[in-house]
Amino acid sequence: MITQDSHGRRFQYLRLSVTDVCNFRCVYCLPNGYPALDSQAGLRAENPLRLNEIGNLVAGFADMGFWKVRLTGGEPSVRGDLVEIARLVTATSGIRQVALSTNGYRLRSLARPLVDAGVSAFNISVDSLDPRAFHQITGMDRLSEVLEGIQAVIDLGVKRVKLNAVLMRGLNDRPEDLARFLDWVKARPVSVRFIELMRTGENADLFNRHHVSAGTLRLELLRAGWFPEARRDGDGPAVEFSHSDSLGKIGIIAPYSEGFCGNCNRLRINSRGALRLCLFGTGEQSLRSLLQSPSQKDELIQTVQNLLSEKAPTHFLKEGNYGITQNLSAIGG
Ligand code: 5AD
Ligand code: SF4
Repeated sequence: MITQDSHGRRFQYLRLSVTDVCNFRCVYCLPNGYPALDSQAGLRAENPLRLNEIGNLVAGFADMGFWKVRLTGGEPSVRGDLVEIARLVTATSGIRQVALSTNGYRLRSLARPLVDAGVSAFNISVDSLDPRAFHQITGMDRLSEVLEGIQAVIDLGVKRVKLNAVLMRGLNDRPEDLARFLDWVKARPVSVRFIELMRTGENADLFNRHHVSAGTLRLELLRAGWFPEARRDGDGPAVEFSHSDSLGKIGIIAPYSEGFCGNCNRLRINSRGALRLCLFGTGEQSLRSLLQSPSQKDELIQTVQNLLSEKAPTHFLKEGNYGITQNLSAIGG
């Protein structure tokens, strides 16, 4: 089955948040940390999808033609059953690639079990390779542990390793910041992608102070001999640059740029099983009641396809409308 919306876009890529909870305090996302719902907060209070619900969900999407699943958060590894989740999703017939987005906090110990479970792509948030700036941005003085986790993944032979850095004026956009990243990718088969800071419900002040367009970075890359690669079918929103002297690549993700939504290929599910048609959309629709038994699969598929027919052609960020997203821990970017 091929799943398409009314604008002719094909959907093959499911981004599944397995928890809202996060143990970092990134300035652009959860500057005060994950808000505790009660003194014993955490997963119990959040009530994220259980394994059987995740299994039913992914089986339904696989039947709709989705073949790539990304596990995201919050921070997915705060769930004690992340490896089991990974095993379940990779074992679902039709799913050909399972990716993980993580802040890398537990990657040193989880790299091997996750790779053994079949996770074949890793995106790790690393906003700076300067330990002090990393600490300042994430609230965690743990750059070296995160880098060791990334190295462990590379050493296990994983081909798809990407670092994500949210570009922020004055925090990680100095020439020496870029130089560190360029130097780091030189001998590593890894892509470092710079993401333009996005405005969300809660980050107005930070956005106004630190948002910087990726245009300047693009020019710096071109001047330094980097060249943009041709885009291929199924590519995500990043424009990737290569260099003859570098094994690794540099990518730019610029959600505020023209045409960003034209080849949108993804749907998002939050940790409670609600469908989000667009990261910057205004609505969400709970699918949870349809995830209770494998016998509900046809109804699940019909419901998603009906909802998809309402997917808007683009976001309205330029118009200042960033939708209902208060911060990205709720949906994992
Ligand atoms: N703007 C851009 N990227 C963000 N992320 C989180 N919040 C924002 C934001 N406001 C990204 C981080 C992280 C991923 C989970 O989402 O880079 O890698
Ligand atoms: Fe946590 Fe990711 Fe948000 Fe940082 S961006 S606080 S790592 S959910």
